[in-house]
Amino acid sequence: MTLSGVKIIELPKILDPRGNLSFIEEHNHIPFKIERTYWIYDVPGGQKRGGHAFKEQQELVVALSGSFDVIIHDGKAEKRFHLNRSYVGLYIPNGLWRQMDNFSTNSVVLVLSSTVFDEADYIRDYNQFIKEANP
Ligand code: TYD
Repeated sequence: MTLSGVKIIELPKILDPRGNLSFIEEHNHIPFKIERTYWIYDVPGGQKRGGHAFKEQQELVVALSGSFDVIIHDGKAEKRFHLNRSYVGLYIPNGLWRQMDNFSTNSVVLVLSSTVFDEADYIRDYNQFIKEANP
């Protein structure tokens, strides 16, 4: 998969003086069925998360609170996305290396995943990823 498959998806936003509301419907706003949701929180300053690729997992990453960067590498080029809105998701297809850094205080990363957790779906060795991405 190449970087061109990565997309910023603007989610519905119901503006309300009582507080705003956003939502996500599988197949309607994102191109996969949601099999799992997880979130990352209490990230100490300066830490990095991710740093792997998925063979099958597609995902949507949302900065529910605060902000952070997602760096995507397709084996040839990389792109950095700054997420800081709770109504914006970053769609990441399978087969791409992704890392997250630059976390603000109290940031919360919401990840909607197309697969259940399976360690065998991870490529954690960067050199192996680069080799497989450039056959
Ligand atoms: P990992 O995906 O490596 O974290 P990140 O990429 O965000 O740095 O997951 C960290 C640990 O948590 C790892 O031991 C696997 C475990 N884990 C689960 O058990 N279930 C899950 O759904 C996820 C995402 C991780």
